[in-house]
Amino acid sequence: MAGTPDPSCHSDNAAHSGHSGHSGHSGHGPRGKFYHQYPKMPVVITAQHEGRKNAMVVARHTVVSSDPATYGISISSTDSFTYQMILKSREFGVNFLPFEQAALVDALGSSKGRDVDKFQKFNLAVKQPEQTSVPILDVAYAAYECKLLSETEYGRSRWLLGEIVAMHALPGIRAEEGVLDMGQVNPLLYLGEQRYLAPDKDTLKYVPR
Ligand SMILES: Cc1cc2nc3c(=O)[nH]c(=O)nc-3n(C[C@H](O)[C@H](O)[C@H](O)COP(=O)(O)O)c2cc1C
Repeated sequence: MAGTPDPSCHSDNAAHSGHSGHSGHSGHGPRGKFYHQYPKMPVVITAQHEGRKNAMVVARHTVVSSDPATYGISISSTDSFTYQMILKSREFGVNFLPFEQAALVDALGSSKGRDVDKFQKFNLAVKQPEQTSVPILDVAYAAYECKLLSETEYGRSRWLLGEIVAMHALPGIRAEEGVLDMGQVNPLLYLGEQRYLAPDKDTLKYVPR
C-alpha cells in the first residue's frame, strides 16, 4: 500500500465471511476510495505482545455501545502488524492525539511495524496502563484500554470489537456536560489523502432545546 496513506478507504464491502451475522450483501456495492463521510478523527491504535510494542492509525472507529462500554475499529488488511499483535494479546489501546501531532500520526499510519520499531524511531513515551498491557501514549489527551471481544471479517477488512476496561484523560480537557473543552485541546481531524485539519473553535454553536 506504499504511497496510499489510508488503505482503509478502499471499499471493504465485499461479501461477508459467514461469522458476521449479516445477510444479503452480495458485494456489488461501490469500490475504491470514497471520502464523502470525512472528516474523521484519526486515532492511534496501540498493541503490545511479548514485550514488543506497536502503533498504527485508524480513521474508521467508534464507540459501539456505552453500557457495556465497547469500541470498534476497522483494520483493512490482515497484514497489519498491529492487527496480528492484537489477535495474539487480545488487547488494544485507542489514543486520541491533538492536531499538533498530525505529522506523528501520519508517520505512524504510513510505516509498518514489521519493518521498523515505531516506538524507538519516533521516540514514543508511554504512561502506565491500568487494566491491560497496551501502551498509553504520553502525547495523547485521552486513551482507552480495550480487551478484544470479537473479530468480524468483511472482505479483506476486519472489524475488531473491544470492551473498554479503562479510560485515561488529561485533567481539564472536559468542560460543561463533559464535552471536550476546545480551549484546552485541539482535536485532530482527517479529510483523506494526507490532509489534516483542526475544528474551527469560532464555529462552535450551542443549540438550546
Ligand atoms: C490518517 C490515517 C488513517 C488511517 N486509517 C486506517 C483505518 O481506518 N484502517 C486501517 O486499517 N488502516 C488505516 N490507516 C493505515 C494504517 O495506519 C497503516 O496501514 C499502518 O502502516 C499499519 O501499520 P502496522 O503494519 O504497523 O500495523 C490509516 C493511516 C492514516 C495515516
